Amino acid sequence: MNLKLSKRIEQIPESVFTTMSRLAIENHAVNLGQGFPDFNGPEWLIEEVYQAMKQGKNQYAPSIGILTLRKNITELYKSIYDINWSYDNEVIVTMGATEALFSAIHSIIDDGDEVIIFEPYYDSYIYDVLLANGIPKFVTLHKPDFSFNFDEFEKAITNKTKLIIINNPHNPTGKVYSFEELKFISDLATKNNLIVISDEVYEFLTYDNVSHIPISTLPGMKERTVTISSAGKTFGFTGWKVGWACANRDLIKGIHSIRQWTTFAVNTPCQHAIAYGLTKINEYLPKFKKLYQAKRDLIINELLNSLFSPTIPYGSYFIMVNIPSGKNDMDLAIELVRDYKVATIPPSVFYSKSDEGKTMLRLCFAKQDETLKSGIKRLKEYKI
Ligand SMILES: Cc1ncc(COP(=O)(O)O)c(C=O)c1O
Repeated sequence: MNLKLSKRIEQIPESVFTTMSRLAIENHAVNLGQGFPDFNGPEWLIEEVYQAMKQGKNQYAPSIGILTLRKNITELYKSIYDINWSYDNEVIVTMGATEALFSAIHSIIDDGDEVIIFEPYYDSYIYDVLLANGIPKFVTLHKPDFSFNFDEFEKAITNKTKLIIINNPHNPTGKVYSFEELKFISDLATKNNLIVISDEVYEFLTYDNVSHIPISTLPGMKERTVTISSAGKTFGFTGWKVGWACANRDLIKGIHSIRQWTTFAVNTPCQHAIAYGLTKINEYLPKFKKLYQAKRDLIINELLNSLFSPTIPYGSYFIMVNIPSGKNDMDLAIELVRDYKVATIPPSVFYSKSDEGKTMLRLCFAKQDETLKSGIKRLKEYKI
């Protein structure tokens, strides 16, 4: 058959996650590559989904999300960040952060609009922008602390720039943006009338008492920022795909215009469970943060006794480690999964401009302690 797909599709390669997960299965490897927990979220939340289903909450939800969840999201942000969003028209519940990103980018970008993206990036940003016929422009977060050069950022802004995308706390580096960095980005966004998408799916995963600051809380930013988060990350149920976006009503309207003709609504019982989960967040978060702080400390301590020196993550559940040999990340990741039975992610796929990604590997520490220990044990067996 000679069926032809669209030209837009031709620019979409197989994702590195698909490749590495396939290799992990074929080689019976410990998987420190895949970016999600290998353990369940809280049992009481599973019970809530079941109860919602039993109570008949199984039909289409309102397209922007059920009222209690929207209300609880706005109350959460009022209480922790002192920011006021209207649950009527400034919040939309989405099929994970992924749908919010796709719809926000498609509702903002016209052909040829430029979008500033920090690299290494969460790869869906690039493909969302390319699918919207936008042009990604890159600013590098440099090793070892993953800070960026303010001049490089300012020079990346042209008269075609429409949007800046930031991810804070950051996947894959674990960076948490400082107030000074956010202020610099905000000042240029307001000066140049740019929109900002702030992907904050790891907002509750910060370590060593480092605070996460939503860029929407800086002066002049509330009206120009789409803030995106994910209950999948916060409650450890990535497969439920419940996320949301908060932004001014015009931006939310744009996201909703796309959602009407893509997913229409998010699954109803999980929205009810997450709405309940948010009412318990003050009891839940300390345990959740403690669990991940312990996992981050464990992986750092193990890595410090290996050839793979870690860079220190202050947020998210990822860590970048330095490659000890002169090998590039792609070759080494394949060697490690094949010969040492441990899967990692070669991060050069998250870079478009700098070569720094070739000198590191990304590991995910949202894993049971036994998985972490046995994965690192295999890394320790690596011989240069
Ligand atoms: C930075 C970042 N944004 C968005 C997502 C996707 O979130 P969701 O599963 O809620 O769609 C992920 C998932 O790994 C992520 O790491």
